[in-house]
Amino acid sequence: MSTEKINQIVEEAKASFQSCQNPDELYKSKVKVLGKKGALSLVMQEMKNLSPEERPAFGQSVNEAKKSLESLYASLSEELVKQEMAQKLAQSMLDPELPGFEVKTGTYHPIELVIREMIDILSRIGFSVRLGPLIEHDDLNFTALNFPEDHPAREMQDTFYMKHDHVLRTHTSPIQVRTLRSESLPLRILAPGSVFRCDSDTTHAPNFYQVEGLWVDKKVSMAHLKGVVDFFAKSYFGDKTQTRFRPSFFPFTEPSAEVDCTCPLCAGQGCRVCSKTGWIEIGGCGLVHPNVLKMSDVDPDQWQGFAFGFGVERMAMIKYRLSDIRLFNENDLRFLEQFR
Ligand code: PHE
Repeated sequence: MSTEKINQIVEEAKASFQSCQNPDELYKSKVKVLGKKGALSLVMQEMKNLSPEERPAFGQSVNEAKKSLESLYASLSEELVKQEMAQKLAQSMLDPELPGFEVKTGTYHPIELVIREMIDILSRIGFSVRLGPLIEHDDLNFTALNFPEDHPAREMQDTFYMKHDHVLRTHTSPIQVRTLRSESLPLRILAPGSVFRCDSDTTHAPNFYQVEGLWVDKKVSMAHLKGVVDFFAKSYFGDKTQTRFRPSFFPFTEPSAEVDCTCPLCAGQGCRVCSKTGWIEIGGCGLVHPNVLKMSDVDPDQWQGFAFGFGVERMAMIKYRLSDIRLFNENDLRFLEQFR
């Protein structure tokens, strides 16, 4: 057995590799020479017929032959794969250089961002979240909140009525009643959520959001309420913000007040957003009416409380300087993507 035989195998294999037209053919021809039962492997079996002195040189030349064939295979194969790809591409519409689709990640809706921030601020002073249903019993939305039957206040809220004494809740205040009836005292809760009123223009939407607060304990006063509201306004709009209460009326609070804060945009100087008054209304509040406590089996001689309801859209419009409430419901990506 001689190195000529090996050279011959190599030459033949090279010729055969070079005549291949595609990667498949090339692979088959590689197996024929380099595979387990390939020509070079068979040649190795002849090692046993050689004298021990001849063996190392023989082994070495077989290995060199393998190496040179393998490297030829690698370069030809790369070439053929490229050719094949070029052919396929020439026949198809695929453009591999076209940029891929951008993967878009979503963003939180500004209303969600504001609600989260409000919860974050008020949870620092012990409030925790409760939720209630959007379709509410008339009793919980009105009667248990001390709205007398046929009282004009029911009209005031532009209610969407539903069958069987149900309404789309007009405010988050029914969650006050639900919580008072089901939990032990004292308590401090926040109830964020969507509410509905039959009303629509640039500052009113038929579906909007409120964050309700309720604090019931043995001794709770207007001073505590003012303190909490002021803490909230300063945390949300900035340290320099001031708050004021204007006397108002809600059937479920007594006394009742409307909450204003100094306009964060002009710092109380007067601008378009605050209609030159320097103040902006952010919600209603008051001490929980004794009748509301009684109707939820809480003894008003032992317990007192305050409640507030803030408009979330209001907070968002002031913070992000928006003039049209309808933007929140249009789902225009150009608008929503600004809150990344
Ligand atoms: N529920 C009232 C409204 O929607 C707001 C409010 C809540 C007022 C709590 C007083 C206390 O207008």
